[in-house]
Amino acid sequence: MAASQVFCLLAFTLPLLAVVSGHNITQILSESPEYSSFNSYLSQTKLSDEINSRNTITVLVLNNDTMSSLAGKHPLSVIKTALSLLVLLDYYDPLKLHKISQGTTLTTTLYQTTGRAAGNTGFVNVTDLKGGKIGFGSAAPGSKLDSNYTKSVKQIPYNISVLEINAPIIAPGILTAPAPSNNMTALLEKAGCKTFASMLVSSGVLKTYESTVEKGLTVFAPSDEAFRDVPDLTKLTQAEVVSLLEYHALGEYKPKGSLKINKNVISTLATNGAGKYDLTTSTSGDDVFLHTGVGPSRLADTLVDETPVVIFKVDKILLPAELFGKSPSPAPALEPVSAPTPIPAEHPSPAKSPPPVIAPLPVKSSPPAPPTEVAPSDSPTSSENSHAKNAAFHVNSHAYFTALFTLAATSLLL
Ligand SMILES: *[C@@H]1O[C@H](CO)[C@@H](O)[C@H](O)[C@H]1NC(C)=O
Ligand SMILES: *[C@@H]1O[C@H](CO)[C@@H](O)[C@H](O)[C@H]1NC(C)=O
Ligand SMILES: *[C@@H]1O[C@H](CO)[C@@H](O)[C@H](O)[C@H]1NC(C)=O
Ligand SMILES: *[C@@H]1O[C@H](CO)[C@@H](O)[C@H](O)[C@H]1NC(C)=O
Ligand SMILES: *[C@@H]1O[C@H](CO)[C@@H](O)[C@H](O)[C@H]1NC(C)=O
Ligand SMILES: *[C@@H]1O[C@H](CO)[C@@H](O)[C@H](O)[C@H]1NC(C)=O
Repeated sequence: MAASQVFCLLAFTLPLLAVVSGHNITQILSESPEYSSFNSYLSQTKLSDEINSRNTITVLVLNNDTMSSLAGKHPLSVIKTALSLLVLLDYYDPLKLHKISQGTTLTTTLYQTTGRAAGNTGFVNVTDLKGGKIGFGSAAPGSKLDSNYTKSVKQIPYNISVLEINAPIIAPGILTAPAPSNNMTALLEKAGCKTFASMLVSSGVLKTYESTVEKGLTVFAPSDEAFRDVPDLTKLTQAEVVSLLEYHALGEYKPKGSLKINKNVISTLATNGAGKYDLTTSTSGDDVFLHTGVGPSRLADTLVDETPVVIFKVDKILLPAELFGKSPSPAPALEPVSAPTPIPAEHPSPAKSPPPVIAPLPVKSSPPAPPTEVAPSDSPTSSENSHAKNAAFHVNSHAYFTALFTLAATSLLL
C-alpha cells in the first residue's frame, strides 16, 4: 500500500484502521515458552493475523498457568472472544500505564470491532491502583478489576506493546454458551442473501460446505442485489453452478484480519488443480477486496465469525475466470478494469452493465483508492499451502453449526 493511501485513509477512518505492520506476535511470543499456550490459541483463532495487521496496539498476555483457566474449558469461539478482549487498540508501555490521567481510563479492544460486543463489554477499564499496581477489568458496569499487570514482555514503540497480566479479563456474558440454532440458510436469508441461500440448498453445495467445517470454512455470500448485476447464470450447466458456488467458499478459516494480510493466491472449494478457481485479495483501508481475474468484490459485512467458521456478505458475485473469463464462455466477461481510472473498479459505471433495476448500489462510501485487478492477481509467486493444519481440535460439525449460528442470529435480531 502506498504511503499516500495510508495518509488518505487516516483522514477518513481515524481509530480502527489496518495497516500491514512489521511486527509478528507469534514470533515475539515464541521467545518465551511460558506463553506457548496463549500463543497457540492466538494462531488457532487467527487473532495473530488481526494483531499483525494493526499498529498502535497492546497485547495483554497470560502465561501457561493463568491461561489454563480458559484453555480446553470453552469452545474456541469463546476463547477467541476472551482473548480479543486482551488486545487493546492503543499503545500502553509500562510508563504510560503509570501515567494514566485521573488514574483510570477505558480503552477499546479488538472485541469491540466485531460488532458483537453489547453495551460496554468491548472496552476495558485500566486503573492505576495504589502502590504501583495496575488493574484491568471489563468496562461493563459493576465489573471488578479482576486482573493485574505483572510485567513487560516486549515493546516496539509505538507499534506494539506486549504486557503480562495475571488473570483473564472477563466481560459479562462472554463465557456463557449461546442457545442453539444451526440454520445457515435462515441466517443467510435474514442477512439479505436469499438467492445465494436457495442456490446452496437446491444444488446440494450446502452439504459440501458443512463437510469442511471441522477443518475450517470461509463463506463469501453475495447479497441479493449482487444477483441483479451478473451475466445470465441460467446458461450455466448444473456442474458449472456447483463450481460457481464452491468458488464462494474456502476449506479453511480465514477471518477478515487474515484476508487483510494475505499475500498469496487462495484456493477455494472449487479449486481442482494449481491455478484453477483461485482468488487473490487486496485492501483499501479497512476494506478487503477479492479478485477473481474478472472483477473485484468487496467484503461488505461479517455475518458470522465463530472459529473455525466465518461467513462474509460480499457485494458482487465472484465470477471465476474459468467460467466467465477470456474464452467466449456462457456469458460475457464483466468489465476489464482499465488501470488509470481513479474510480474504484467495483463501481460499475452506468454506461456498461444495464441492470434491470436502476437502484443506487448498496455500496458504502468510495474507498480512497481503486483496487485494481492487476496488482495482486498477476503475482502467483508463492503458491500458498493453505491446508488448515490446526485441526488439533475436533468438533462435530453439527454441534459447531449449532453453536455458531446462534450468536450471529442473536446479533441480527438485536
Ligand atoms: C512501526 O510501524 C510502521 C508502519 O507499519 C513501520 O514503518 C515501522 O517500521 C514500525 N516500527 C518498528 C520499530 O517496527
Ligand atoms: C510469524 O512468525 C512465525 C513464527 O516465527 C512464523 O511461522 C510466521 O510465518 C510469521 N508470520 C509472518 C506473517 O511472517
Ligand atoms: C506451556 O504449555 C504448553 C502446552 O499447553 C506446553 O507445551 C509448554 O511446554 C508449556 N511451557 C511451559 C514453560 O510450561
Ligand atoms: C474503573 O473501575 C474502577 C473500579 O471499579 C472504577 O472506580 C473506575 O471509575 C472505573 N473507571 C472508569 C473510567 O470507568
Ligand atoms: C491486584 O492488585 C490489588 C492491589 O494490590 C489487589 O488487591 C488485588 O487482589 C489484585 N488482584 C489480582 C487478581 O491479583
Ligand atoms: C432452516 O431455515 C429454512 C428457511 O429459513 C427452512 O426452510 C429450513 O427448514 C430450516 N432448516 C432446519 C434444519 O431447521
